[in-house]
Amino acid sequence: MRRRIIAGNWKMNMLKSEAKQFMVELIPLVKDAKCEIVLCTPYTDIHRVYKLSLGTNIGVGAQNVSWADKGAFTGEISADMLKEVGASYCIIGHSERRAYFGETDESVNKRLLQALKCGLKPIVCVGETLDEREGGLTEKTLARQLTEGLKGAEGDIIIAYEPVWAIGTGRTATPETANETIAFIRKIVTPLIGETSILYGGSMNAANAQSLLDMSEIDGGLIGGASLKSADFSIIVHCK
Ligand code: PGA
Repeated sequence: MRRRIIAGNWKMNMLKSEAKQFMVELIPLVKDAKCEIVLCTPYTDIHRVYKLSLGTNIGVGAQNVSWADKGAFTGEISADMLKEVGASYCIIGHSERRAYFGETDESVNKRLLQALKCGLKPIVCVGETLDEREGGLTEKTLARQLTEGLKGAEGDIIIAYEPVWAIGTGRTATPETANETIAFIRKIVTPLIGETSILYGGSMNAANAQSLLDMSEIDGGLIGGASLKSADFSIIVHCK
């Protein structure tokens, strides 16, 4: 089950025309790629990106999913809705959701169980803040996020380790730190969900991706800023 996955997280970027231009550029650049390629786009881009991705090696995902099937949940999007417009993956528990939108380990768990029930491939994000790292709480935080977040979950679950202090800051974890922390995460998740791909995320870019992906524990990347430029993203996709 461990495999190289390079996933883009567009966050709240890319209008329709920009998404189309990106796809037109990216498709030929990555057609011979050896890894699994995923683009997690804003909800409003999913269908367009999905249509452009048909017949290519690019998978499409969302950046969140409701824990409910349907009903009175204003502003939420269900797994069936996502699948209907072409998503097959979804990010769950991104640190920006945790920090700005009240996401908790419990809500992450509910969303994860729903994604699995509905056949979406989840990419579950975990990571410590700078205070937690400096306070020696990295392992405790990750262990809590993983045991609570993955409770009762079974299936193909991709994990992304994203130290909060490295996201969008240009401050990447060193390959050694990322590798060591992912080794710790692997020790916790393997008994819970079996062997799985664990990605690194946080200021990964065309210049530093190879040194991170060379590390034995790092199976791939979840890339924010550098996934908005087709040329940069394709360089990461083609890393050995
Ligand atoms: P970044 O974002 O690559 O811009 O740091 C990564 C993420 O938040 O998934």
